Amino acid sequence: MSRRYFIAGNWKMNKTSSEAAALAQGVVEAVGNVSNVDIAICPTFTSLETVEKIIEGSNVKLGAQNMHFEKSGAFTGEISAAMLRELHCAYVILGHSERRQYFKECDCLINKKVKAAVASSLKPILCVGETLEEREANKTIEVVSTQTKGGLDGLTAEEALKVVIAYEPVWAIGTGKTATPAMAQEVHAEIRKVLAGMFGENVAEKIQILYGGSMKPENADELLAQKDIDGGLIGGAALKADSFAALVNSA
Ligand code: G3P
Repeated sequence: MSRRYFIAGNWKMNKTSSEAAALAQGVVEAVGNVSNVDIAICPTFTSLETVEKIIEGSNVKLGAQNMHFEKSGAFTGEISAAMLRELHCAYVILGHSERRQYFKECDCLINKKVKAAVASSLKPILCVGETLEEREANKTIEVVSTQTKGGLDGLTAEEALKVVIAYEPVWAIGTGKTATPAMAQEVHAEIRKVLAGMFGENVAEKIQILYGGSMKPENADELLAQKDIDGGLIGGAALKADSFAALVNSA
């Protein structure tokens, strides 16, 4: 089963709307016509509408960095799936380690968000990954398996086909320390086994599993050559059009 590569940029809390417009324009000019790789950029909520207008008509898709699981209501500061869909978001990043760490998001809450996203025709990018302490305690596979199962609990096989997984070792995020291709492949293969156990081999083989954690143009080729690495969820290197384009062109 050959899966399409997918390169997604997680801009995190960076770029004002005008800065986001400039970056989006640069990305469209560089890779807007690339058709053999899935491409998405995920700006902050305040830039979604601006960026949407710029990428419209290109092969670059729009993603959000979070959402609430409720349809609407008294949830100050939150954003619903319907609000994201109205702005033509195709993807939503859920369970990022920074939200687990700073906002104490647990697998149960993330699971509610995954279900709400799928129900609203958004494709969740479910983030899983271990901390340095967990890796040093040889708990990586246990942690990542638990997060994958918890995030996808209750989904049907058909719904699971709408999900993208991103393995992001927390100790590699923003640090310049990248997991070696062998380390990343080992965890990706374990995630695929978990997916097979939950949804069957056929579905597991179709789900894209991205690597995130200091993926750069200089290390992308080796990572993307791994059997179960289907692309990247990119932070720092997504904030410049040329480095993001180089990653798309590596895929
Ligand atoms: O979500 C992607 C992000 O966590 C990776 O960040 O800067 O290590 O590419 P970075």
